This record gives sequence, structure tokens and C-alpha cells, in this order.
Amino acid sequence: MKQSTIKLNTGARIPQVGFGTWKIKPNSAAKEAVTSTLEAGYRHIDTARIYMNEKGVGKAINNSSIPRNEIFLTTKLWNTNHRDPRAAFEKSLKRLDTDYIDLYLIHYPVRARVASWKVMEELYAEGKAKAIGVSNFTIRHLTELMEQTNIVPAVNQVEFHPFLYQKDLLEFCTKHGIVVEAYSPLAHGQKLDDPTLKQVAHKYSKVPSQIMIRWAIQHGMVVLPKSTQPERIAQNIDVFDFAITEPDMALLDGLNINLRTCWDPTDAV
Ligand code: A2P
Repeated sequence: MKQSTIKLNTGARIPQVGFGTWKIKPNSAAKEAVTSTLEAGYRHIDTARIYMNEKGVGKAINNSSIPRNEIFLTTKLWNTNHRDPRAAFEKSLKRLDTDYIDLYLIHYPVRARVASWKVMEELYAEGKAKAIGVSNFTIRHLTELMEQTNIVPAVNQVEFHPFLYQKDLLEFCTKHGIVVEAYSPLAHGQKLDDPTLKQVAHKYSKVPSQIMIRWAIQHGMVVLPKSTQPERIAQNIDVFDFAITEPDMALLDGLNINLRTCWDPTDAV
């Protein structure tokens, strides 16, 4: 499977389609799903402490025949663990049964974020986290962080799909060299029957989910679809044999209705 990658501000390359594991639990289900994922050609797995599946993800990676350094692994610092981010990181390493994390993220912009970021800068300097980034940050949160700390986040992982086209945030991140990672890129499956999406999918002989993923890729983002079904896992990465034209991209951009299927961090202090 041919996969495209994007360069992070660390110089490392991140596979543009990753597998999101939110809600895939217990550990046995995560192990099964990640195993299918690796077999389907994914080399980028996104988990988090709060998904409660790090052990299963680690088992799938370690049981596969793929060398660890060929898999890009992300996990995240949960809101209640900011008192000791280093201890939280070490526990994630242990559960994932690995020596390093490719990308460690602040999961949500809680108050302690700036102090925690300084610890994450240390983890980065020590080579334990190969890149550090944030999730659910708005332009305001990013500006504040960049004013008060030294390292610009490598990524900002946010909900992003044609029905939540956050153009200003994408432009801001691009200007600062921050890669946007789209979570819930399928809008949780809520919009797969949208007539415009279906019409575009028909035109390219693809299915609506593939159009949503391809749209995010062409906007220069990393995309993190999730599924527990092997056929869909394979379908969601089969998006590198076609390109959406500019007019069709514009048509999809026009679907925006600011639909949030997850958190809205706009007012997070
Ligand atoms: P399932 O796990 O049964 O495949 P998102 O990534 O935006 O959060 O969306 C995830 C939801 O979309 C899940 O409910 C998942 O269900 C569903 N889904 C994932 N891939 C596909 C696909 N290729 N076609 C249809 N539904 C999908």
C-alpha cells in the first residue's frame, strides 16, 4: 500500500493516514483492531491514556513482524495527570511496552498546560518523545503556548472534516509549521448519507468515507479514521489512487456547518 507522509518540524516524517483507536476497548479489541490495521498497511497508530487501550495497542505492535521504528506511535497526556506529566509518560511507555513515543500530545487545553509543556520539552530533549504536540487547541491556546515556551508544537490534533472545516485554524497552524491532525474525520459516521458527498463519491467510484479522508489529505492534514471492521479499516487507507479536483474540493469545503461531534474547546480556559 502506497502511503504519503508529511514532514514534522522535528524533521521526522509522519504517515498521513493513521489509525485512531478512541472507543476501541477493552485491550483485546484494540489488539485485534490494530493487528488488522497493520496488516492493511497502516504504519501510524494513535492512542491515548484515556482510551484505556494502550496495553492492547502495544501488544499488537510487538506481536507484529514490523520493526518498531517503522511504526509511528502517538499517545497523550490525560487531563487528570498534569500534576506529574513525566510519571504519566513513563506509565504510558510501560503499558505500550516500548522505549519511546513518536509523538506525545497534551490531550486537552487544561489550565496546567504551559507547565506540562515544559516537562514535555524535557522528554523531547531526552529523546524519549521524538516529537511533542497538542490536541484540541484553538488559535488562542496555541498563541499563548508559543509565547511562553520554547518549542513550537509539531501537531495540533482537532476534530476536522468537511462539515467542520476550520479554515482559520488550519491557516494559522500551516503558517507556524504545525501539522493539523484530523480526528473524527468521518464526523463519527453521521454524514455519510449527505447527497453532495455521495455525488462526489459516485463520480470518483469511491465511497463517502474515502472522499472525506482524501479531502483532508489534499488539505495537507494527517487523517485519523477509526473502525473496528477489517473491510472498513482497509477501505479507509485505500485513498492514494485518485485525486479530487479543485472545483470538487471547493464543493466539499462548502459543506461546512460547524458540526462538532466531539468536544468544543473554544471556551476552554
Ligand atoms: P465501525 O467501527 O463499525 O466501522 P470517526 O473516525 O469520524 O470518529 O468515525 C468512526 C465511525 O465511523 C465509527 O462508528 C465507524 O464504525 C464508522 N466508520 C469507519 N469507517 C467507515 C467506513 N469506511 N464506512 C462507513 N462507516 C465507517
